Amino acid sequence: MYTKKEVKTSPFSDQKPGTSGLRKPVTTFKKPHYLENFIQSIFDTMEGGVKGKQLVVGGDGRYYNKRAIQIIIKMAAANGVSLLKVGRDGLLSTPATSHIIRKYGLSGGIILSASHNPGGPQGDFGVKFNIENGGPAPEKVTSRIFERSLEIDRYFIAQGPDVDLEKAGAETRVLDTVVEVIDPVSDYANLMEELFDFEEIRRLFASGFTMLYDALHAVTGIYAREIFVNRLGASEESLRNCTPLPDFGGGHPDPNLKYAAELVQEMFSDNAPDFGAASDGDGDRNMILGRKFFVTPSDSLAIISSNHACAPGYKEGLKGVARSMPTSCAVDHVAKDLNIPCFETPTGWKFFGNLLDADMITLCGEESFGTGSNHIREKDGIWAVLFWLNILAVKRQPVSELTRNHWLRYGRNYYTRHDFEEVDRDGAIRLMKHLEGQLASLSGTEINGRKVEIADNFCYHDPVDGSQSCNQGIRIIFEDGSRIVFRLSGTGTKGATIRIYIEGYTRDKDRMNEDTQSFLSPLIQLSRELSKIKEFTGRQEPSVIT
Ligand code: G1P
Ligand code: ZN
Repeated sequence: MYTKKEVKTSPFSDQKPGTSGLRKPVTTFKKPHYLENFIQSIFDTMEGGVKGKQLVVGGDGRYYNKRAIQIIIKMAAANGVSLLKVGRDGLLSTPATSHIIRKYGLSGGIILSASHNPGGPQGDFGVKFNIENGGPAPEKVTSRIFERSLEIDRYFIAQGPDVDLEKAGAETRVLDTVVEVIDPVSDYANLMEELFDFEEIRRLFASGFTMLYDALHAVTGIYAREIFVNRLGASEESLRNCTPLPDFGGGHPDPNLKYAAELVQEMFSDNAPDFGAASDGDGDRNMILGRKFFVTPSDSLAIISSNHACAPGYKEGLKGVARSMPTSCAVDHVAKDLNIPCFETPTGWKFFGNLLDADMITLCGEESFGTGSNHIREKDGIWAVLFWLNILAVKRQPVSELTRNHWLRYGRNYYTRHDFEEVDRDGAIRLMKHLEGQLASLSGTEINGRKVEIADNFCYHDPVDGSQSCNQGIRIIFEDGSRIVFRLSGTGTKGATIRIYIEGYTRDKDRMNEDTQSFLSPLIQLSRELSKIKEFTGRQEPSVIT
């Protein structure tokens, strides 16, 4: 029924994976041979060859997901993959894929997602490749893939009918490959049940505790229903936008204060539930809210770290923690208190992989609504929500009270990120050059009463494999614990996005409850002046503030 075909092709010059895989507009991915070239480049560069390997593929359900999966199934078969697990209906969240790779000892997986970017015919699409530890391919792998993509001249694909992906458990043979349709939820939900005290959380819901979970019409809807409603007894009304749609209902599936506006509005209303949460397109991000209260992702990591013992899976203690460089230093204070190491890595989850594999850290996170642990090798949205539920089930305190108590104990890291999206790329590059040029003269000086302790372009030395990743963002760190960080986004698909991260720290008990933007306004002002952002980009105000 199937035949193997070799197709002649020529390279595309723009298949360099960014912070998180290859992400492009759908229209780019639909160009003849575009997807195929990239997939073949992944296969061609797999260690030991792709023949005979076992892989998994799934995606966040966005537009083009189903078509792309059929292409990948046929290419995997033509390349001699022995077993290909595929999520039912082509669905698998990023964290669930990571778990499947690890649980079944697969050689890797392909995740079709552009994460939190909008979907639909005019939206974005993406391909991420994860390796056998379940984590995103490290730079040495992605650069091999890119190099291969620049010279590729053929790919292999099976010809024959599409594979039916509707029934979990079904197996189809395509050439010599077994294509197995898997339930995207059950293995993942079982893992969550091992890590968290489901009984305690069930008691919490039974006591009248209310929650609102917004899947933003993306992949976590199917996980939320099974875990929160079926297994934990939350009411059906707790679920919002939990049916995955190819265009995410026209929305932007990014769990933050701007794009999860509907949830935010409800959580800040007078009859708000006790707890609110949301996740992104592929399920690796999370936002945590209390009644009329927003928990910054940096604080969330710190609070989970300090309360880790509430969850059975973490009772034994933490080996260490890690945060990406721009993430606030809130978790550093907890690590110090627990007397465990705290690592600072460049932006992007792939940098946590080595530390996790070497068992040097247990928890890690990023300011960009990403939190996770050594249970898989990706950040994990539902996991973070469950960690919070587990903590709340044990503590029986409102989210706001728990967070305020945390600040009283460790001090508060006021934190905000200002994004200038879709600015002119040349202007953005010149702005970064301008900042870089100022670094030497900034070190040791005093600006508006604050002494600069470090001014540099962050360079990471991986303590596990000794590799170096430089040029990871301009940091200006002041002696009082405040920081300004500038970097260019590696995930945007239009123009450039400048991210400015601003942080201020206080232990003053009378200054714990101020408005973040006002508390930070002198530093915000300074960030504009130092970067001359108006001059370089024509823009004074950010497009997104989180
Ligand atoms: C953004 C976030 C980063 C995250 C990545 C993938 O990357 O800032 O923390 O790991 O998305 O979700 P950026 O666009 O900043 O390169
Ligand atoms: Zn994501």
